[in-house]
Amino acid sequence: MSEELIITEGATREEIYKSLFPQLKALTEGEQDQIANMANIAAAIKEYIDFFWVGFYRVVGDKLLLGPFQGPVACTTIAFGKGVCGSAWKEKKTIIVPNVDEFPGHIACSSKSRSEIVVPVIKNNKVIAVLDIDSDELNSFSDIDAYWLQKINSLL
Ligand code: SME
Repeated sequence: MSEELIITEGATREEIYKSLFPQLKALTEGEQDQIANMANIAAAIKEYIDFFWVGFYRVVGDKLLLGPFQGPVACTTIAFGKGVCGSAWKEKKTIIVPNVDEFPGHIACSSKSRSEIVVPVIKNNKVIAVLDIDSDELNSFSDIDAYWLQKINSLL
């Protein structure tokens, strides 16, 4: 396929995910390297939905280590159970934070981040990474994002 993604202008977020998913599927299915695939997934999401920060943290040893991302520089490591990312790893589930100021232990890599979603990448029942998306607006994420981002993570 062409490396250029096609998204209709003025589409809703769900329409964007619907259009993005098969294109990401085609883009990742010929490639085994997870870092390469994470890099394109982060780039595609950031390009088509105007989030503040989109990226992966990979489980390396006993911590999460910053992986491919798009956006401002971010914290390099996150411990198990810490912050939204470490909590999603520990609980093996997607966490939606409508207001980061109300999440106990939230790790603020940027003061501009106002809401956040973290979706674990699960392989053979183990969390191997998390997809973290930050928005500079409150209440940016819903079950629609959780559903599509889980589907996108299943490509890895
Ligand atoms: N806010 C995250 C840390 C990562 S940055 O948002 C990129 C957390 O609390 O785990």
